[in-house]
Formats: sequence, structure tokens, C-alpha cells
Amino acid sequence: MIIKDLSIWKIFDSRGEETVECEILTEKGVFRASVPSGKSKGKREAVSVDFARAKKSAAELKKLLVGREFSSVREFDKALLDADGTDDKSRLGGNVLLGYSIAFSRARASERDVSLWLLLRREFFPNADDSRRPSIFANLMNGGAHADSGLDIQEYMLVVRPGKNYADDVALAVDVYRSLGNTLRKKFKSKVLPLGDESGYALPLKDNFEPIKLLENEISARKLGKKCSIALDVAASSFFTGKAYKFGGETLNAKELCKRYEDYFKRSKYLCSIEDPFAEDDVDGFRMLLPKLGEKWAVGDDLTTTDAKRIREMAAKRAINAVIIKPNQIGTVSEACDALTEAKNLKLHTIVSHRSGETEDAFIISLARASSADGVKIGAPAHERMVKFNELIRVYEE
Ligand code: PGA
Ligand code: ZN
Repeated sequence: MIIKDLSIWKIFDSRGEETVECEILTEKGVFRASVPSGKSKGKREAVSVDFARAKKSAAELKKLLVGREFSSVREFDKALLDADGTDDKSRLGGNVLLGYSIAFSRARASERDVSLWLLLRREFFPNADDSRRPSIFANLMNGGAHADSGLDIQEYMLVVRPGKNYADDVALAVDVYRSLGNTLRKKFKSKVLPLGDESGYALPLKDNFEPIKLLENEISARKLGKKCSIALDVAASSFFTGKAYKFGGETLNAKELCKRYEDYFKRSKYLCSIEDPFAEDDVDGFRMLLPKLGEKWAVGDDLTTTDAKRIREMAAKRAINAVIIKPNQIGTVSEACDALTEAKNLKLHTIVSHRSGETEDAFIISLARASSADGVKIGAPAHERMVKFNELIRVYEE
């Protein structure tokens, strides 16, 4: 497949921040991809460049790639990585490289006449178990960097285990989201509820445990105990001062914070997973918590930044048993797939995830199916996030 042209556009994400859309022209047509952006980013993430620099990167890549032929996503990505030449993609920009890498994957799928997920499955995950379907991680209440709610924990998620079809599971997530909204409208005597960056409710609650109780009430009132559970993304780097954690109005060391979490797991039988419970360099904090969790998940996000090597290191240190995969943390499709393969080989649970600043691009759902991920993390079932929920229904119908 010969590359005939490359273009780039400035577009805006769901938070109104500037981002890029990349376009590749081949004899099969035009293939596009847009790249999301994060707010609570890990410091080891691939560097995103602003649009002025992204345009220069695109011009350079156009000179290099037009007229060339690539027979796999990995081969195309290698050309991108060689052109960039840095470890953190800071010369051409991880956002630009990922945009072209996804656009190329779509072009390649079209050339092979297969859907995107199947193309990725064949190239990167030939042995994946297709009977495995991911749980939905729907972020219903927002705190931390994603809201002005006063809550230290960034995300309180409803986890929906997969049933017969995703249309029913999405309907269930919507139903719980709406009914939680009704409860909160009554509680706060307000018709209009403030929302966070991912459309979860963002209310001025003081106690970090309270949203867990609210979600629990929704689950028990509907007798959804077998179908649903609760997950947290603490994003603890955001309240780590460098020496201590400012949590729930107290100043805690890692050991004391670990005790708070143990207490949360004791108090809520529905709590099943906790992401970034400690700051991204506090590996000892993670190591302290993991043995207390049994089958429950300790998830690395800022800790591991979709980097196969870092995932291997953290698994070897027994810091985590699960990992978040965000393609734009690493900057190419092949490397995101390598991170997934590494995690799977290490028997870690995998959750493919969106970012707080999203676009209409739903690539992550195809990546989840290709790799047989255990979870997809896609925000609240409302507004712009619905694009991913709907893609989940479509991609898994095939
Ligand atoms: P971000 O956060 O997309 O704002 O970086 C999401 C997360 O921490 O999972
Ligand atoms: Zn996170």
C-alpha cells in the first residue's frame, strides 16, 4: 500500500483544548485519526507538541513517507520512530506519531478488507481468546483534577460485567447514571448538577468514601450485586506533596494512606479495583497495598504509562496486578500493543482507556477487542463519551 499524501488538522477535544487530527491518503481513500489529551498525566508519558510544531512534524513526515510502501503497522511505526529519534517522542510529538499510526492502521485494514480490530488481532495478538469480553468502567462521579468537587479521589466508577450483549450493558450503565442523578438532585435540592471533565457528577462532598456509598446504594437497590461493582481511580500524584499525601483533610504518610484504602475495601464489598493509589514514583506504597487486596485489582496508570518495560518492572516488584493502556501515553499503535502483550504475558489484568479530553475517535474499542482486554474505561455514559459506548456495541457485534 503506497502512501500518497499526509495532512494534519487542528481540532479541539471535549474540554476545548487544541489537539490534532492526522490524515493519510492511499489508493483506497482517506483515513483519519484524532488524538485525545490528558489532564492528570504521568510524567513519563510521550511528549505532545502544540499545533505549530505538529504542522512542522507533519511536513517532515510527508517528505519522508509519501511514495513509500509499508506492509505492516509495525513497519510503518518503525519509520515514525526512526524519524523522531528520541525516547520520549519529543522531537516530532507523540500526539502526531500516534495520529498517523492509527490512521495507517485504518488504511491497512481497508486494504486488507478487514475491520480494524481484526487487522490488529492478526498482526499483534494472533493467540488472543475472542470469547473474553471486557467489563465497562463507567466514571459516574468525578473529583481530583477532573472536578471542583472537593473530593481527592479523581474517579468513582461503576463496573458492569459483560452480559449477552453490550446494548443491554450500556442501557444498564445509563440507567444507573440517571438514577444516581435523581438521588443527587434530591440530596442537593438542585435541578441542575455540576459535571466533571468526563461527565460524571461533580458535587461538593467532603468525605472521599461517600460516593462509594452512593454507588453501593444504586447497586443494592437494583439487586445488581452479581452484575456490577465499583472501581476507583485515585490519581494520587495529584495530592502528593512530595513528602506526604493530603487526603480527606489529613496529612498522611504512605502507610497511613494504605490503611485508609484497606478500610475502604473492608467497608465496601462492591469495591473491586483501585487505580494509582499512590504517587507515580511511590513504588513502595503500591507494594504495601497489593498483598492486602487478594483478587481485587491494583491498577497502574501514571505508574506504568503504557510502557512495556515499565510494566515488566512494576510487575516484577509486585506493585500491581492490573494495568491501564492509553495509546497516547506511549505514542504508537505497535508500542501500545507491545504493552498489552507484555501485560498479558505477565498475567496482569488489562484495561484499555480513554483520556479526560476526548475526541470522536473510538480507536480504543477496536484495540480492546483485538487484544481481548479485561476492561474498557470510557467515562460517564453521556454526552461526547457516548461515542465510545456505541462503538463498543458495534465492534463486539461483528
Ligand atoms: P487524564 O486522566 O486523561 O486526565 O490524564 C485519566 C486517568 O487518570 O485515568
Ligand atoms: Zn488514571
